[in-house]
Amino acid sequence: MKTLVLYYSKTGNTKHIAEIIAKEVKADILEIQREKDIKGTGFGMYMKGGFEAMTKRKAKIKPFEKDLQKYDLIFLGSPVWAWSMNPAVRSMLTEVNFTGKKFALYCSCSGEGSGLKVCEKTKEYLTENTVIGETEFIDPLTNNTEEQTTRAKEWAKEMRKEAKRK
Ligand SMILES: Cc1cc2nc3c(=O)[nH]c(=O)nc-3n(C[C@H](O)[C@H](O)[C@H](O)COP(=O)(O)O)c2cc1C
Repeated sequence: MKTLVLYYSKTGNTKHIAEIIAKEVKADILEIQREKDIKGTGFGMYMKGGFEAMTKRKAKIKPFEKDLQKYDLIFLGSPVWAWSMNPAVRSMLTEVNFTGKKFALYCSCSGEGSGLKVCEKTKEYLTENTVIGETEFIDPLTNNTEEQTTRAKEWAKEMRKEAKRK
């Protein structure tokens, strides 16, 4: 089963989990990149990013270097912005035709529950797909890193098994 980990990450948490998953299930990995990323990591970035996400803006994204159509299972990773889907991920899901593919969703967030909530919103864009599971990671670079790393590995293996079953 050809597997891809596709993610957007601003401050590295979603990327960190993407790398763990890709290594664990021997998947390809691909970053969703914005044409113009929001600069910095401070208050201005939070305000601008939060506004974009809350108002359901899309962000122009760079073309992908890989052919997404060749994958059967896609792990899709996204950070939560303002209790909402990330603009780059929203753009990607509206631009790419993923019909028939299986998805495992994960969100990185700072507050418990907001990642799972955004996974639910993401599913609205995947009605032509089988979503086999979803989970959240709470700022895994700085918070219970070891425990969340172990959980990411276990979850990735479980999703691979689930994808083969469905
Ligand atoms: C603009 C912005 C808005 C955010 N809004 C939320 C939020 O509503 N809820 C939450 O739990 N975390 C929120 N966060 C925190 C991130 O979701 C969290 O730090 C995540 O792990 C970041 O992933 P990344 O390092 O891959 O970018 C926000 C972060 C940014 C930059």
